[in-house]
Amino acid sequence: MSPLVPTAGPPGPPAASQPPFPRGFLWGAATSAYQIEGSPLADGAGASIWHRFAHSPGLVRGGETGDVACDHYRRFAEDVALMSRLGLNAYRFSISWSRVLPTGRGTVNERGLDFYRRLVDTLLAHGIRPLVTLFHWDLPAALDDRGGWLNPDLADWFAGYAETLFRALDDRVGMWTTLNEPWVVADGGYLHGVLAPGHRNLFEAPIASHQMLRAHAAAVAAYRAVGRHAIGLVVNLEPKHPATDRPEDLAAAVRADAYMNRQYLDPVFLGAYPAELREIFGAAWPDFPAAELEQIRQPIDFLGINYYTRGVTRHDPERPPLCAATVRQLRSAYTETGWEVYPRGLADVLLWVKSRYGGLPLYVTENGAAFYDPPTAEAGIDDPLRVGYLRRHLLAAADALAAGVDLRGYFAWSLLDNFEWSLGFDKRFGLVHVDYGTLARTPKASARFYSEVIASSGANLGRRTAAGGAPLEAPQDGLLDAVALQGDG
Ligand code: BGC
Repeated sequence: MSPLVPTAGPPGPPAASQPPFPRGFLWGAATSAYQIEGSPLADGAGASIWHRFAHSPGLVRGGETGDVACDHYRRFAEDVALMSRLGLNAYRFSISWSRVLPTGRGTVNERGLDFYRRLVDTLLAHGIRPLVTLFHWDLPAALDDRGGWLNPDLADWFAGYAETLFRALDDRVGMWTTLNEPWVVADGGYLHGVLAPGHRNLFEAPIASHQMLRAHAAAVAAYRAVGRHAIGLVVNLEPKHPATDRPEDLAAAVRADAYMNRQYLDPVFLGAYPAELREIFGAAWPDFPAAELEQIRQPIDFLGINYYTRGVTRHDPERPPLCAATVRQLRSAYTETGWEVYPRGLADVLLWVKSRYGGLPLYVTENGAAFYDPPTAEAGIDDPLRVGYLRRHLLAAADALAAGVDLRGYFAWSLLDNFEWSLGFDKRFGLVHVDYGTLARTPKASARFYSEVIASSGANLGRRTAAGGAPLEAPQDGLLDAVALQGDG
């Protein structure tokens, strides 16, 4: 097996005296191109839909854009040195499609590709493994002009772009992922219009999802022809718990789970969409060709899971098409983005994926929280809420590992404070503070805490179970149980 691919194998539960995470575990942080790079049109790059969206008045808070962002495009070497000082052995970043192919297809812009060659070489020189995301939402604007994710040709164009990257970098990159969070693109970009490309159309959302899955599969097929290492997909998962035991709330939670979680994983692993999607979308749910579903069901080498929160769900007929609403929990803490802090859910989703889709290697490819930090950092940044969030989620990850999940790595979201999409720079998720006036980077207390987690393989996390009880054995107290039990029957 290639030295670029983690060779730890299924880690198995560590003995009580050992630290909770095994040797060979990947400890990383994650970012995405448009959120940190800046210089979006430099060196011959084409515009992306996020460049266009952010420059359209009124769509991003405060009119903020990714024109400068963290200036990572010019400061990447400084940022890699910072990762090295923090002790990271892995880094997840995304490639801007329109830097490499300014119109999305056709002639390669070598200067754009060179940026990623230099970034990868710098990471490797510091002993940091790259995990490359091919698509983190910044579709080339020229392809949006051709219909974006509604156009069935996009699958082939995406595979062509992916193949360009595989040929350029697979000798140095051991881990690739195709799409980041297709649900967010379809829901935010095509159904509710709050993310690029800003459409609000019930009929478009299922088509966009399906074309993304076809593109994912086409890129995996291209990788099998030219790549030598590992490729996977990244989804964001949330346990959906019914707000009460009333049948309509239980049904709403099942629908929410089908819509957000199973809509993407069932086709990839089981070759079929969940039946609930027809109920949710009604006449807007098309009959997708069986041959396309067969193509979507391509074996992948690992799955990346982004986990932030759960959704306690109630029936709400005023909110079509899902007819469900998330209920605020009086006894829970919430982050600055209004997401409930629910660490146990991380263990639950990891265990659920294993039980429903089988025991493939899993990575937590994003986990983190926005909490208030001041705009400048002269006195350092003490962020105990973020430390607490990370600590409790890492304990939940350790629980899942101890319960037999083949968890191979964890990536904190995010390395740096960055452009939080339509919320602009207001919400700070970084382990490292960015002063947007000077672009100075200041590691927060959470970065120091995470360094200690890495150095001790989690021994500094304290007690071994997030719930304070026995290690978990199966998804508990929630809909994931019900869904797992219902299975495909
Ligand atoms: C996305 C990131 C985003 C983060 C926090 C994830 O959905 O992949 O790009 O910044 O969540 O909202």
